[in-house]
Amino acid sequence: MKRTIIITGGAGFIGNHVVRLFVNKYPEHNIINLDKLTYAGNLANLKDVEDKPNYKFVKMDICDFEGVYKLMQDAHVDGIIHLAAESHVDRSIKDPFTFARTNVMGTLSLLQAAKLYWESQPERWEGKLFYHISTDEVYGALELTNPEGVIPPFSTKASSGKHHLAYGDKFFTEDLKYQPHSPYSASKASSDHFVRAFHDTYGMPTVVTNCSNNYGPYQFPEKLIPLFINNIRHRKPLPVYGKGENVRDWLYVEDHARAIDTIFHHGTVAETYNIGGFNEWKNIDIIRLLIRTVDRQLGRAEGEDENLITFVTDRAGHDMRYAIDSRKLQRELGWEPSLQFEEGIEKTVRWYLDNQEWMDNVTSGDYMKYYDDMYSNR
Ligand code: NAD
Ligand code: TYD
Repeated sequence: MKRTIIITGGAGFIGNHVVRLFVNKYPEHNIINLDKLTYAGNLANLKDVEDKPNYKFVKMDICDFEGVYKLMQDAHVDGIIHLAAESHVDRSIKDPFTFARTNVMGTLSLLQAAKLYWESQPERWEGKLFYHISTDEVYGALELTNPEGVIPPFSTKASSGKHHLAYGDKFFTEDLKYQPHSPYSASKASSDHFVRAFHDTYGMPTVVTNCSNNYGPYQFPEKLIPLFINNIRHRKPLPVYGKGENVRDWLYVEDHARAIDTIFHHGTVAETYNIGGFNEWKNIDIIRLLIRTVDRQLGRAEGEDENLITFVTDRAGHDMRYAIDSRKLQRELGWEPSLQFEEGIEKTVRWYLDNQEWMDNVTSGDYMKYYDDMYSNR
């Protein structure tokens, strides 16, 4: 079936991988990338698809209700995949208002525009879907009940490498209550509630997914992995928050994009799916892996840059552990990660080292000034 789909936030990190997958895999679908181009949006991420006949870029703020409503009418939009958001926890600590505006009010503006447009159509909700992309951070923090790590009860391709440990007994399942701690996760939790409310109140076909930390090409270098790869390359200090004991569950970004494709086309309306690879890592272990990998790929002695590790003041309210239980998605829709973590890191480091021009563009000039102001403890 031919569809017209708005992908919001398509110029950002995960969004560009989703846009690329949909534009290439579904030439019969029209893909509209709606993005405000904040500091995190970069059209250079989409050079390879910008001339495709089924791709269109629209620079727009999701909070612009009138603009979004008109676009939906003019383009006859029947699907929305909503990724646009403010996404960095450290920024949310400094500037929570921007997070409430974009993540909460922006999502509400999209929902209301979709509701008015879809309700005005003869077929109403038939063939429509509002797919909201959220994060595992809404569930709050899990405890580090096994600080040394134990053999985990589940595994996937992502966790099939040498390192394969779980640092606690509990995992995030879809039925857990929301307990967000940061302004970022609080704003995402609020947007998730609005999406479910539009289903429960008006009958809008919605789906919500909560994914763990993503890594891979085109991630903005304020996040751990690209920031540290770039700092190791330039032999700049690596600011490790607290003791580096915090645990995150990592998924290669293209595996997330494939999960989004599967759920958009085959997911059950009103359901929530958690997306993750059962791939927990302590920050300090990832940092050491990054140092070894960058050193080796640059022809340096492996590990010679360990002296760059600099322990700094911990992030306020720093969540200790995230660990997703994604068995529902595997069981019901057959999705699994395709890449083992060490392989994914190898590819990711290679990409950032090969794309220094991309990195220089996003870290240069005005941006760096803003960056320095925001993060004065580095
Ligand atoms: P990102 O910060 O890299 O990109 C966000 C994009 O949204 C940018 O292109 C930006 O220009 C755009 N945007 C921001 N405000 C906008 C507005 N008001 N109107 C229109 N566009 C706007 O984010 P990301 O890491 O790609 O995350 C995408 C989504 O996935 C977010 O909703 C995030 O909460 C969620 N998520 C991210 C991760 C992760 O590890 N990065 C994990 C799970 C879920
Ligand atoms: P980040 O990439 O910001 O993702 P999130 O906070 O959404 O999980 O951070 C990943 C982990 O790395 C998190 O525990 C915070 C830590 N971290 C550092 O120790 N130093 C840094 O400079 C950054 C950006 C993150």
